[in-house]
Amino acid sequence: MAVDLLLGLQWGDEGKGKIVDVLTSNYNIIARFQGGPNAGHTLVFNGRKHVLHTIPSGIFHESASNLVGNGVVIDPVIFKKELDKLEEQNVDYRKSLLISRKAHLILPTHRLLDAASEAAKGKAKIGSTLKGIGPTYMDKTGRNGIRVGDIELENWKNKYRALANKHEGMIDFYNVDIQYDLEELETEFFEAIDTLKSLTFIDSEEYLHQAQKEGKTILAEGAQGSLLDIDFGTYPFVTSSNTTAAGACTGLGIPPNKIGDVFGIFKAYTTRVGSGPFPTELFDEVGETMGRVGNEFGATTGRSRRCGWLDLVALKYACQVNGVTELIMMKADVLSGFKSLKVCTAYNYKGETITHLPFNIEAHNVTPIYTAFKGWAADLTTMEDASQLPKELNDYIAFLEKELEIPIKIVSVGPDRKQTIFK
Ligand code: GDP
Ligand code: IMO
Ligand code: MG
Repeated sequence: MAVDLLLGLQWGDEGKGKIVDVLTSNYNIIARFQGGPNAGHTLVFNGRKHVLHTIPSGIFHESASNLVGNGVVIDPVIFKKELDKLEEQNVDYRKSLLISRKAHLILPTHRLLDAASEAAKGKAKIGSTLKGIGPTYMDKTGRNGIRVGDIELENWKNKYRALANKHEGMIDFYNVDIQYDLEELETEFFEAIDTLKSLTFIDSEEYLHQAQKEGKTILAEGAQGSLLDIDFGTYPFVTSSNTTAAGACTGLGIPPNKIGDVFGIFKAYTTRVGSGPFPTELFDEVGETMGRVGNEFGATTGRSRRCGWLDLVALKYACQVNGVTELIMMKADVLSGFKSLKVCTAYNYKGETITHLPFNIEAHNVTPIYTAFKGWAADLTTMEDASQLPKELNDYIAFLEKELEIPIKIVSVGPDRKQTIFK
């Protein structure tokens, strides 16, 4: 069986968690392939909201196994908090939650290094979530990291100590004012390690290989978005992993020829949290309305998200890099009530009209060129069937499908599981 992928096409927070939850009934296994607790995936059902950071978004379905893949970085302290929340909801995760031995651990000092690095950058800071993501992936590629499987081995604490000591030296090197009590952080960390150890660790590439042979259905869940990809995003304002389709191959051990459908998910407009270029960003009341109606506050950091019109140049690029086969459009309901809508179809780049993402995309050298659409007033949030969607929204969708040459198969009209329209 081929493995399907679901990933974000913009700067994250497209609604991946909601849709993975909606699609989980079609799959035996949900597998997160990259990122860490920088992610915040929101699910809403039965009048309750759940936010997951590291745990795959299929966890509320008893029928599915949920795998944290080798490409993920795990902070045991945050992971423990996620487990506590699941326990409060009586979710029995013990059998269904599996963790790759090859996933890397975020140490308390990785978080401190993230803070020190950001402080040293001053105005040029990435706007990182301060979860230690960058420093942990740096240790991974630098071949110094500690993996989940290591904590099953004796003497791993020696390796921990050596690395934490090195990190302390590095924090000093940054020469910024970072206050911390490492002993306290370590007490919390080692307690959380004990909790982690009570879960099931597996050689996940082998597990997935066997599952495929047995005909099990697998959905790989991405975190962040394509424009935050370490290679293809708006570098350096990106995260430290490959968020695009290829990341699922390396983050789970799935061969490229075993990838099936690639579900690309995007908001009907655009948001970004953190620093970096955002050509269609709005600083007026339209952007303010999108943020308010769309409740655009980060699920992990609570920061308000920057808002703007849909950027088709960037979306096309993301579809190409990922080989998207089906599109999923989120938050269509948020656009209800605007008299007219705009979609960016080209950039004016240094006086020239271009339809690709330039290498050095920056606010001052890129001006979006827009196509305008008539808006609609209808409230979409109670609609249940594609036949109910207003003509103006159908025109908007038809334009995007024609431009992207990919069908939009799902339109989301509210945060709840049920507010999902299949076309
Ligand atoms: P993720 O990181 O891609 O999983 O997305 P987040 O959970 O960070 O952000 C998406 C936000 O939009 C969450 O607050 C969701 O509850 C909410 N949401 C998802 N789909 C819709 C939708 O169709 N309409 C509205 N209004 N909100 C939605
Ligand atoms: P989900 O999975 C939105 C952003 C941060 C920052 C940059 C680097 O919920 O879509 P990092 O902590 O990774 O070093 O931060 O990436 N970022 C996200 N933005 N959604 C996310 O995840 C994000 N994860 C990281 O705001 O700009
Ligand atoms: Mg999110």
